[in-house]
Amino acid sequence: MKRQSKALIHRLAVLAIVGGVVIGAGTAAYAAVELSNKQANSYYASLTKLLKDCYARSGLALTKVYQSWDRYNTAPYESATHGGRFVNNYANAKAKAYGKYEASGPMAVGGILVKDSFQVKKGKNGKNKVTPGPMFIMEKMAAGFNPSTHDWKYSMITVNGKIFGTTNGKGSKKMKFCADCHNAVAEDQDTMFYLPEEFRK
Ligand code: HEC
Repeated sequence: MKRQSKALIHRLAVLAIVGGVVIGAGTAAYAAVELSNKQANSYYASLTKLLKDCYARSGLALTKVYQSWDRYNTAPYESATHGGRFVNNYANAKAKAYGKYEASGPMAVGGILVKDSFQVKKGKNGKNKVTPGPMFIMEKMAAGFNPSTHDWKYSMITVNGKIFGTTNGKGSKKMKFCADCHNAVAEDQDTMFYLPEEFRK
């Protein structure tokens, strides 16, 4: 996010609110709880199997294996642009260059980036309530797949294992807002935003 102007960040914030409706989260709803990295990792550890089972109901092959891919963040972090949820970033072997971040260059065809997520809210008893969130996927397709997404296929899987939408497939229109935001860095970063620096491995 280094090279981004104030105007762009403002635009992202506005889109996040619009997107929040589609992503299914009042962005503010999850923003109140702050976690230490240790706490965030321990919540995630308690959820990994459940998350995998939730997403696997979609039948998408990658949902069964993504947790064995490289994870690029040191701890789940709160992502305002993905519904204020805590998220992780995984990439498959073809997307290995992702780990070079701003120096990664355009993504190789077949590269897949996956973000799983969970919500943390304060329960009535004052204790944190941790629940699974959706999975966000970006897959780099062959040239010509879709010029308006720079040939990325965006998909979102709900916690019920439903494919909420997928570019050029069912619910394609519902994924337009993903590209609308990600395209802000199309030219320099092939639409990838990368991780906040403090969470990079
Ligand atoms: C308002 C802007 C915005 C919207 C809308 C948005 N994203 Fe993102 N996305 C980001 C930002 C910023 C990052 C990096 C920081 C982070 O993780 O919060 C990111 C990171 C990602 C990543 C990790 C790859 C990368 O770019 O580094 C994936 C995968 C992803 N988003 C998928 C999606 C999908 C799928 C949708 C739509 C369902 C979506 N995003 C909607 C802004 C957005």
